Amino acid sequence: MAIERTLSILKPDALEKGAIGKIISRFEHAGLIPIAVRLQHLSTKEAEGFYAVHKDRPFFKDLVSFMTSGPVVLMCLEGENAVAKNRELMGATDPKKAAPGTIRADFAKSIDANTVHGSDSLENAKVEVSYFFRTTELFSYSHKK
Ligand code: RTP
Ligand code: MG
Repeated sequence: MAIERTLSILKPDALEKGAIGKIISRFEHAGLIPIAVRLQHLSTKEAEGFYAVHKDRPFFKDLVSFMTSGPVVLMCLEGENAVAKNRELMGATDPKKAAPGTIRADFAKSIDANTVHGSDSLENAKVEVSYFFRTTELFSYSHKK
């Protein structure tokens, strides 16, 4: 399997719950290494641009409003099969349908306040990581055994 990079966002509800440490710990345990981390309060323009693929969907306004309701943690995660592994750890979009033990099952309250974002393909991961980070802000390292 290849080493990949993916974009993770800890959404405003994750910060309000005081859960960012617990969530990052799950990524680290799974071998997904945060190689860039930044706290940011997204502007409406930034959130709209990031979720532009959804601009015609009925939930777009609510999504942008929620994503700009408080600060988020932006991260680039690196590791084997990082895109799929991150999606697996996150669980289904709707926390009611998320498998037990996933981040959304354990922390999320609703389909809007669903705690985490993760890129859904390698192609989108490249676009999303570069939306928020310059290559000079990515610092690869390994966990020593
Ligand atoms: P994300 O992009 O945030 O990682 O979530 P996802 O891939 O699991 O879901 P996606 O289809 O990309 O939708 C983006 C976000 O929009 C909200 N949503 N609401 N009410 C609805 O039917 C609905 N569908 C999606 C969710 O907050 C979702 O995370
Ligand atoms: Mg998505």
